[in-house]
Amino acid sequence: MKVDRVLVSAEEIREKLTEMGAAISRDYNGKNLLIVGVLKGAFIVMADLARHIDIPVEFDFMAVSSYGAATKTSGVVRILKDLDEEIADRHVLIVEDIIDSGLTLHYLMRNLRVRQPASLSVAALLIKDGIERSPIEIKYEGFHIPQEFVIGYGLDYEGLYRNLPYVAVMSHEDG
Ligand code: PRP
Repeated sequence: MKVDRVLVSAEEIREKLTEMGAAISRDYNGKNLLIVGVLKGAFIVMADLARHIDIPVEFDFMAVSSYGAATKTSGVVRILKDLDEEIADRHVLIVEDIIDSGLTLHYLMRNLRVRQPASLSVAALLIKDGIERSPIEIKYEGFHIPQEFVIGYGLDYEGLYRNLPYVAVMSHEDG
């Protein structure tokens, strides 16, 4: 495997996360914000975004997995790790690395809304363009990207490459 080309550079990501962090700090000023990272992919975005937020904020994590390719379109997601915190009356911001089919997020929103948070919003670094999905409002958007397989900045190929400091399109050629 090698990187075919860089789609979003480390510098572009840093600038965008600075803007997103400033907007979040402004919007949630005076509120009890809980940021929920969706493992594994979101751990890098969450950690870097958090350092651009300058209001008090707590963190929690969920880990989810789809039931496999065959049932992917059903939108059924298995919760591998649930939140530690109760979220009733909390202002919850879900952080995702990428929104592709939107099924993971759609499931999470439905699941968390039942717990009656004070508000429930989404921040996502990457959004794949040109994909039909049920409407989900992304309050804090990073970059729109084409429908290509991307790695880096939390995104993996067979568990690897999450630590690349940029988002790249993978080359399938050997070497
Ligand atoms: C990725 C990503 C999102 C989800 C988006 O996670 O982190 O959670 O896919 O895809 P969707 O919009 O089509 O539902 P993945 O299932 O690859 O797990 P990982 O984060 O552990 O790599």
